[in-house]
Amino acid sequence: MIVPEGVPPPRERIGEDDLVTSRPDSPPEPLPEASGEPSPHPDVPHPDVVVSMRDVALVRDSTPLLDAITWDVELDERWAVIGPNGAGKTTLVRLAAAEVHPTRGVVHLLGERMGGVNVFELRARIGLASASLTDRVPADERVRDLVRSAGYGVLGTWREDYDAADDARVDEMLAAMDVTPLADRVFGTLSSGERQRTLLARALMTDPELLLLDEPAAGLDLGGREDLVAGLSALALHPDGPTMVMVTHHVEEIPPGFTHAMMLREGRVVAQGLLEDVMTTENLSETFGQPLELLSRRRRFSAFRRR
Ligand SMILES: Nc1ncnc2c1ncn2[C@@H]1O[C@H](COP(=O)(O)OP(=O)(O)O)[C@@H](O)[C@H]1O
Ligand SMILES: [Mg+2]
Repeated sequence: MIVPEGVPPPRERIGEDDLVTSRPDSPPEPLPEASGEPSPHPDVPHPDVVVSMRDVALVRDSTPLLDAITWDVELDERWAVIGPNGAGKTTLVRLAAAEVHPTRGVVHLLGERMGGVNVFELRARIGLASASLTDRVPADERVRDLVRSAGYGVLGTWREDYDAADDARVDEMLAAMDVTPLADRVFGTLSSGERQRTLLARALMTDPELLLLDEPAAGLDLGGREDLVAGLSALALHPDGPTMVMVTHHVEEIPPGFTHAMMLREGRVVAQGLLEDVMTTENLSETFGQPLELLSRRRRFSAFRRR
């Protein structure tokens, strides 16, 4: 790869020995001291790095929800973030969506340093579909308006000016997510699967450079989940598709075409890297704190408790 002058070379890949950073039987590492000092790491990530986190911590009520997170997501990568409830997955996605700022450490999104840019401009380049977003959509919001307002970063009453190009794009997205017949329904009357597909249509509306999906298959029945996994797989395999990060606690939901995985437990990285390196029985068992067996068949995963 040709590295432009003045730009530091990409960081070396994280080695095997670095992967396991937190063991249940070891005491938690002391938190690094907060300080106004610049990060010891090179400050400008390589242009191909879409999400860059350096020693990031997010603390609420003196509890670290995330700690010691160092993570690079590159342009052509599709990441699955896996961990039990409360591991910090949604918090990680909210950091990557520029919805929250880190308490410590440095976050760069799409080449912009968090804290130094207009987050509204940044958010327009990021597509987000999450359960927390579902909760914030007014029940009387029409499906068409919800999708159309995506580029304007507003939820709720339609009060912006939209043009004809937007209308064509809305129709395209509704069709792609198979929700065209629902266009004039209000959000509150949709099933969970229909809500998820509508929010995906909204997330893709702006042709985002980064697509963040927080448990997109939550609440779907088996058929709905398989439809979604197939759709996300097609998007993941598309050469012009966005960089993707998908959060899940079910390994069955990882779409074929995903390239990388991070496992999170109690706010810390258990393992991260190439999907095939990270998706092991050992890592999964450590992440979920019980003896699990991980099976892989036809590029899909399944897991169950070891007997
Ligand atoms: N704003 C907040 N203030 C305090 N605690 C929070 C806040 N948001 C999340 N948490 C807590 O942080 C932990 C991680 O939450 P979350 O990122 O939602 O986990 P996950 O998505 O992996 O289930 C949970 O214990 C949750 O209760
Ligand atoms: Mg969550």
